[in-house]
Amino acid sequence: MPLTIEKNKYMGYNKNMSTIVFGGAFAPPHKEHVEMCKNAVKELGAERLVIVPTFLPAHKAEHYLYFDARRELCKIAFADVCDEVIVDDIENVRGKDNFSYIILPLLKEKYGDIIYLVGSDSLAYFDKWREPKKVASACKIAVCSREGYISAEDVIEEVGKEYGRQNFVPLEYVGKDVSSSMIKTKLLLGEHADELQKEVNDYIVSHRLFDDYRAMVDQLKSYQTDELFFHSKSVVKRAVDFNSKHILLQDYDKVFLAALLHDNAKQRKSVDGLDVPADAIGTPVLHQFLGAEKARRDFGIEDEEILSAIRYHTTAKANMTMLEKLIYTADSLSDDRDYEPIPAIREIAKADFEKGFKTILKYTYDKISERGTGMYPLTEDAYYYYIVENHD
Ligand SMILES: [Fe+2]
Ligand SMILES: [Fe+2]
Repeated sequence: MPLTIEKNKYMGYNKNMSTIVFGGAFAPPHKEHVEMCKNAVKELGAERLVIVPTFLPAHKAEHYLYFDARRELCKIAFADVCDEVIVDDIENVRGKDNFSYIILPLLKEKYGDIIYLVGSDSLAYFDKWREPKKVASACKIAVCSREGYISAEDVIEEVGKEYGRQNFVPLEYVGKDVSSSMIKTKLLLGEHADELQKEVNDYIVSHRLFDDYRAMVDQLKSYQTDELFFHSKSVVKRAVDFNSKHILLQDYDKVFLAALLHDNAKQRKSVDGLDVPADAIGTPVLHQFLGAEKARRDFGIEDEEILSAIRYHTTAKANMTMLEKLIYTADSLSDDRDYEPIPAIREIAKADFEKGFKTILKYTYDKISERGTGMYPLTEDAYYYYIVENHD
């Protein structure tokens, strides 16, 4: 009888094993996720690891990978962490209301005593979790420090005041700061991501995951020298990094596409009857206007925000959108530019995006003025708007 079989299977979990529960989007699971679990298992003497991939609504799942792929990748990634590793699909089965205060008691029923593993960065906003009191009393919470964030001890000290110090266990291991959006970017660009285990990389390649933009990337490559293609990819990575580190909240795909295609016309200068300003023809800034038109014509880009970010990436202009500023700044400060004073200005922008944007704009304006090669009017406008009048 199916019911009995279900019940037997359910009863099959040994409830006397010490179990760590670790949740996340795992899109995809990377080496640092695995290291964190390995160390937690060692420090806590755990015998079982339960990985809980989060449910992602379909519209968010595009390059975030569908659940089945994330589950398979988790099975591969965490396989060697301890003797018993389970990838639990409870959140996907439920589909909604997957709050820790609801899920943890359900997992406790299933696996016995559990320890919930979290990073110090996410515990820092424990107040904002749904029903934090219920979470804290559901099971012990093991906290792993993460490089660049508040330490496990400090965050427990803080959160413990309100939710009971005894409910939290600090771990010694300090997790490295790995950016999931950078991994995703490398994969979408068709690059190998060192942050992933070889087996995970292999599965991604053989199942053609993250290949949404592969045709576009290949097409661009066919229009560019190796050096310019390398620059284009560097601008994508710099833009993605600024966007996520500074929480600029720009749509990931728009950032990716605008940065990828910003120089698509740089080595294709024929105007082809496209609509570009007459005063740009024969000047270095032509490729920004032509780039927007050719992105529309040759890459099928219709999104005006993306096109506009391409259109002003060289000259800048007054009153730019955040996406326009982002692409302008990432292009001027991409990591392939190692000549003075760019590395120093890049550091300024890494610390403070707006300051970096204004610094590179002013530097560029001063350089063109000094050279006396003719300033495009839009750059003049940008200078007055952002530097003289000091708008944001
Ligand atoms: Fe350019
Ligand atoms: Fe560029």
